[in-house]
Parts: sequence; C-alpha cells; structure tokens
Amino acid sequence: MTLERTFLMIKPDGVSRGLVGEIVQRIEQKGYRIAAMKMMTIGPDMARDHYAEHRTKPFFGDLVSFITSGPVVAMVIEGERAVDGIRAMMGRTEPKDSPPGTIRGDLAVNLSRNVVHGSDSQESAKREISLFFHEGEQNDNTRADHAWLYPIQKKKDR
Ligand code: RTP
Ligand code: MG
Repeated sequence: MTLERTFLMIKPDGVSRGLVGEIVQRIEQKGYRIAAMKMMTIGPDMARDHYAEHRTKPFFGDLVSFITSGPVVAMVIEGERAVDGIRAMMGRTEPKDSPPGTIRGDLAVNLSRNVVHGSDSQESAKREISLFFHEGEQNDNTRADHAWLYPIQKKKDR
C-alpha cells in the first residue's frame, strides 16, 4: 500500500463563505493526512499557470479573475488513492449534478463558484503541488490513528 499525495484548494468563494473549517473537517474525518496547508492570494501569472490546460477555453479569463479575487487555502493531502478519493469527495464540476454528501453537492449551487479545486490525476497532483509548495513546506508527520486507518497486513505464514 502506497500513500498518494494530491493538491486541494478551497477557492475564494469557499474562504469568503466561511467553509474552510467544514471542508478541512471532512478531509480529516475521512482519514487523510494534511501534509501542507496555507492561505494565500494567487497572482495572475500563477493562476494562468495553474489553469494552463484551460487557456483556450472561453471561460479562461473569468476563471483567472475569480481565482485571484481573494484568498484561497491550498493543501497537500495524503492518503491511500488520495487523488481519486478527493475527487470523489468533491463531487462533479457542476454542483447541480453533484450528489448530496459531496462537498460541491452539499455546499455549492453554481458551476463557476464550486468551492474547491482538486487534482484530476497523479501527474496534475505533482505539477500543482510543486507550483504551490516548496519541498520544505510539506510535512512528513504521521497521524496518531495511522495504524487504525492502515492496518498492517499479516503474512499468510505467520
Ligand atoms: P477544478 O479544476 O476547479 O478542480 O474543477 P474541475 O476539474 O472539476 O473542472 P475543470 O474542467 O478543470 O474546470 C475548471 C473550473 O472552471 C470552471 N468552469 N467553467 N463552462 C464553463 O463556464 C466552465 N467550465 C468549467 C469551473 O469552476 C471548474 O471548476
Ligand atoms: Mg480541473
């Protein structure tokens, strides 16, 4: 079992609406470890880098101006299959199509104000983590409940 790291960001709407605690609580209760977390305001160059895959889309300008419009909370989240797991917790891109129980399904109503961003693959996770965090900003601590979250698998011959 290997632990994966992914990048999660609470967007300016989530921060302004006071949803940081709610979202962090869901992540911690699930059993993921927060390896890094910081509040910051993204500049336009970093925003364009972060959303480079969407640079030719008609909504790119709005996306960049929204994501730079106020502070965000950026996080590195670690856990077993964390990339897919965080995307599942987030729900669909469109909150109206996101089931109850997901972050977007429970906390958002509009496509362009969908509260969170999460890496969509392991490659994106690596790229986004290194865009937002230096190596030294990521912590290698272990959760006190680690052995309950990831029980050691017994060998058959023991
Ligand atoms: P994110 O990158 O923010 O985690 O969202 P996502 O993977 O679920 O969705 P993505 O396709 O990467 O789109 C990035 C963000 O752009 C906004 N969007 N607007 N048609 C539109 O106006 C449109 N499509 C996407 C959304 O806010 C989406 O989160
Ligand atoms: Mg995306």
